[in-house]
Amino acid sequence: WIYLVVIFAAAYLIGSISTAILVGKVLSGDDIRSHGSGNAGATNALRTYGKKAAAMVVLGDCLKAVVAILLALLIFRLSSIGREYQSIAVYAASFGAVLGHNFPVYFRFRGGKGVLVSMVAILFADWKIGLAVVAIALLIMAVSRYVSLGSVLGAVTLVILGCIFRWGDWAYLCFTVLLAGLVIIMHRGNIKRLLMGTENKLGQNKQQNG
Ligand code: G3P
Repeated sequence: WIYLVVIFAAAYLIGSISTAILVGKVLSGDDIRSHGSGNAGATNALRTYGKKAAAMVVLGDCLKAVVAILLALLIFRLSSIGREYQSIAVYAASFGAVLGHNFPVYFRFRGGKGVLVSMVAILFADWKIGLAVVAIALLIMAVSRYVSLGSVLGAVTLVILGCIFRWGDWAYLCFTVLLAGLVIIMHRGNIKRLLMGTENKLGQNKQQNG
């Protein structure tokens, strides 16, 4: 248990390093959370600062998730816990990193919606399901031009594919349901706007919050 707590806490602290907030401060000296959707994420970085900034956020957010999970695997290897629990260590690190990203301790607990960090996490947890979910989410984003719609339907797809291909693996299913649930809850403002037809499409720069 103590190892899991250490892994979770370390991942939370790594996840709390908000790339979008840092990139915004370095490039423009302001806070991305006072622009666009108010979200500290790659989509809002694209909207607010342009393509280069968004690429940096994508890289940074993915990298911190990879570091948090690899660190968890290292701590796990150094521990005496049985190999059969390795996936639990990955789940604990992933969830810690997502919570850190969404509620960063260094930035008054207001961060992003955890899509990129969750994407890396599901690729580590089951790369086949992960790749399928990422492909479907990207396709929906490309066709609809709504990043949020791709994110939310990607989360739903994750749970459906988990139920089909990993039924009986309760740890994996609990982990993915938690992750998907959190992504959907974080997108509640986007879902309202999608239903009202006022959600921002890629390439638009309307001022919206939530
Ligand atoms: O990853 C966040 C994305 O799905 C939506 O971002 O800024 O439009 O709320 P945003």
